[in-house]
Amino acid sequence: MKPIRILLAEDEVMIAEDIQINLEHLGYRVPKIVISGEEAVESAGRLKPDIVMMDILLKGEMDGIRAAQIIRESHDIPVIYLTSYSDKKTLDRAKITEPFGYILKPFQIDTIQSAIELALYKHRMERRLSENEKRFRLFYEEAPVSYQALDASARIIEVNEAWTAMMGLDRKEALGTDFRELIDPAVRDRFEQAFQTFLSNGTIQGLEIDLISRKDARLTVHLDGRTGFGNRGKRRRMHCILHDITERKMAEQALRESEERMRHFSAYLQRVREEERTHIAREIHDELGQALTALKMDLSWLRSKGKPESDLFLRKIDAMTLLIDQTLGRVKKISTELRPGLLDDLGLDAAIEWQAEEFQARTGIRCDVRISPEDRKLDEARSTAIFRILQEALTNIIRHAEATAVSISLSRENGNAVLSVRDNGRGITRSQIENKHAFGLIGIRERAGFLGGEVFISGNRNKGTTVRVCIPAGEESPS
Ligand SMILES: Nc1ncnc2c1ncn2[C@@H]1O[C@H](COP(=O)(O)OP(=O)(O)O)[C@@H](O)[C@H]1O
Ligand SMILES: [Mg+2]
Repeated sequence: MKPIRILLAEDEVMIAEDIQINLEHLGYRVPKIVISGEEAVESAGRLKPDIVMMDILLKGEMDGIRAAQIIRESHDIPVIYLTSYSDKKTLDRAKITEPFGYILKPFQIDTIQSAIELALYKHRMERRLSENEKRFRLFYEEAPVSYQALDASARIIEVNEAWTAMMGLDRKEALGTDFRELIDPAVRDRFEQAFQTFLSNGTIQGLEIDLISRKDARLTVHLDGRTGFGNRGKRRRMHCILHDITERKMAEQALRESEERMRHFSAYLQRVREEERTHIAREIHDELGQALTALKMDLSWLRSKGKPESDLFLRKIDAMTLLIDQTLGRVKKISTELRPGLLDDLGLDAAIEWQAEEFQARTGIRCDVRISPEDRKLDEARSTAIFRILQEALTNIIRHAEATAVSISLSRENGNAVLSVRDNGRGITRSQIENKHAFGLIGIRERAGFLGGEVFISGNRNKGTTVRVCIPAGEESPS
């Protein structure tokens, strides 16, 4: 360790030398002895000693007290006074310079040592404290978060600049105000409760409250508070940090509204599409079907009037009749694909049975259906949603699953209609489930979500995929 260097300012040579010997004996170093205040200031600046021992009465214009003041202010070096002089006026002057200690002459050697160690310690602490204070000030004034302190009755006793900017109040107006007055009356109770809890527990965490600023603007803040103690550690106070989250709240609200709008819009599109399909399906089935049937009857009449010997004529009529029958079949198929009349006429259960048979006939994939009997029918919106979800799931099985068997079940669980479609194919992966472009799956979720339902999709590699949809059965109508 480097020895501690002490600058000695003492104009009586005998005393100075005596002190020097003692100090060096104690292991300190004395690089210089000066005899005037001016010299002391100059040497302190040049030699940068760790500490200065200063006689109050020195030769020259400048006395020790003045010199000590300059040394402290411009070089931040601690000074200990050496003095035999103890009239009150001088001591009072010395006190103002905040000395790090006094050594009264004549002195004992061990007082010197403890005075030096104490002065150095005090100086180190003071430096640290002042650094902390600077850091704290910077934080306190420059931080973009608002700070306030409240007393035990919620009166404001301190605020920082960010706070005054946020609230549009200046410090003077704010201090002494009851914080409750700044809170939107509608949510004052919430603060009151949190404040009572704070008084017993010492913290408030994440309290969201609405404040009214000076400009009558409403803002939402997020408040965290901690206990502190005021003068002499007696009075309880609450240090609070407030974050203005008004914009975030507004953005959240706007996002929610926009989502809601999109959801309604999507549901509206689905409904319109469904209505249109139903309409076209009927039109094709009824109008076209009837016209074709009429044609067929006319042909049959023509045939009865034809002469048996006009073979070609009869063959033509038979061919036309066959074509009409085939067209009638196509018409029926097209209209059923658009919207199975079964769904409207006989309900969801029948439509599911029909769809499964149709699927099995078309693909050769075995398709089992299990429907738990229910005495109450689902309404049209729910029936349609579940039916369309089933169709999407079946289409996916044809396109992606490479399955050989499918089982479909429809049941009621705790007031929900539950549809489950399981295949034994390759199994959907997590990333396919979460893919933002999987519009088929998104459509399934949207349809269910709009009716307050939920969708669970899971895949098991080479074991299969399950799509499970739960939709609250809602206001049920007797079947
Ligand atoms: N039953 C299934 N078995 C295996 N993979 C499936 C199954 N259903 C869906 N997938 C996978 O999930 C993806 C997303 O499905 P979907 O949103 O309906 O889109 P699309 O059918 O238009 O590709 C499919 O591309 C496919 O990779
Ligand atoms: Mg699909």
